[in-house]
Order: sequence, then C-alpha cells, then structure tokens
Amino acid sequence: MHYATAERREHLKHGLTHDPFKALIAPRPIGWISTTSADGLVNLAPYSFFNAVSDIPPMVMFSSTGRKDSLRNIEATGEFTCSIASLALVDAMNLSSATVAHDVNEYGLTGLTMAPSLLVTPPRVAESPAALECRVWQTVTLPGNEGDRAQVVVFGHVVAIYIDEAVVKDGLVDTAAMRPLARMGYMDYAVVTPETAFTLNRPQVDEGRRTASVKPGPWDGVYR
Ligand SMILES: Cc1cc2nc3c(=O)[nH]c(=O)nc-3n(C[C@H](O)[C@H](O)[C@H](O)COP(=O)(O)O)c2cc1C
Repeated sequence: MHYATAERREHLKHGLTHDPFKALIAPRPIGWISTTSADGLVNLAPYSFFNAVSDIPPMVMFSSTGRKDSLRNIEATGEFTCSIASLALVDAMNLSSATVAHDVNEYGLTGLTMAPSLLVTPPRVAESPAALECRVWQTVTLPGNEGDRAQVVVFGHVVAIYIDEAVVKDGLVDTAAMRPLARMGYMDYAVVTPETAFTLNRPQVDEGRRTASVKPGPWDGVYR
C-alpha cells in the first residue's frame, strides 16, 4: 500500500484496522512527565511523543494531544520533570495514564513515591533509575487541530539530572540495566535489555575521504 496521509482518516485509504502511523515510528521513548499546578497539585503522566532534541544544551520535547493537565500545569509554572519508565515500573506507568480528576495525585494512585527535585518544584519518581529536571523553553502549537484538541509541543531545557548510582558502571550509564520501556503502535511496547542492546563503532574514513570502514568488536573508545 502507498497512500497520501491527507486521505487517511476520512476514507481509511490504507485499508488497515487502525492508523498505522505510530506503529511505524517505533520504538519511541516514554517521557514520564511530572508537573505541579499553580496551587501545588502534583501530576504524573506518560508521553511517548517524547525525545531528546539536543545535548548541548541538553533539551527534550514532549507533545500533548489536546490540552491535558501536564500541559496546563507547565503553562502555569514553566517546569516539569521526566523520569525513566523502566520495565519494573510498567504497571505504575500505565496506570498513571488514567484520566483521573485534576486533583488526584497519580503518585498516590499508583503507589509511587515522590522524590524532591534539585532545581524545580515538580518531584521525580523515586523508584525510577534516572530523571531529568526541566524548565520550559517554548511551547509550539502544531497546525491542524485547534482549541482543546490542539497538538502542543513542549520544549524544555534539562537543568538538572538524577542518576541512580546502581546503573553507573565504569564511568558510563548502563542504559540496558535500566530496562527502559518504549512505545510502539496500538497497545504494544518494547524494552531495552542487556540481551537486545549492542555496540557499534562509528565508521572511520580514509585520508582521501573516498572509503570508510568500521572497526569490529567492542567500543574503540572514541565518542564521535
Ligand atoms: C505509554 C503511553 C504514552 C502516551 N503518550 C502520549 C503522548 O505522547 N501524548 C499525549 O497527549 N498522551 C499520551 N498518552 C496518554 C496520556 O498519558 C493520558 O492522556 C494522561 O491522562 C494525560 O495525563 P495528564 O492530563 O495528567 O497530563 C500516553 C499514554 C501512555 C500509556
């Protein structure tokens, strides 16, 4: 099949049961976003329209499909944290996506613990192996839907980072040891594990820059 996306929803031109878009952009990391409202109510929810967009300066984005509590709190306070959603926390992560009332704290709902942040007001998930503390740089409303159905992207500067020492090995973060969850399409998930993670050196070009080769084996130690 090969179809123009403008026709996708109206006529289901792809002929599939559901829109395949998110099943193709996979796996997507999950940003487990915690915010506080102007009057101090704490919120926690997962977002898979989430990613790092820069490392110098460190910045992340997430995107809200409609005007949800996380977005409203961020517009009011300009801050959020993002905890790593690990396999050990999968049920709590899923439960925290429930559309409960604004004044229900999802930490209480899920049995998770709030840990204080270093520089921002929203807490992080204490059980999570790592978390980012963020200050909003800009929110961008994407074209298309408007009002309550708007798709709004939040960009944040990462101003502090928490890492559990247990996932640091030989001066490096052992990402696979955290077993971070990722979202695929539909209700499907994936997980990074030591068994599925692998190392690949970057290609080295020859002097004339006409050919390139990759050193096999473990990391050559050069961080390109
Ligand atoms: C794994 C996962 C990923 C999700 N990703 C998004 C997302 O990227 N954008 C979004 O608007 N909602 C997403 N949701 C749904 C929100 O988590 C859900 O609407 C939640 O109630 C929003 O909470 P809030 O109103 O407290 O912000 C996701 C849910 C799950 C379980």
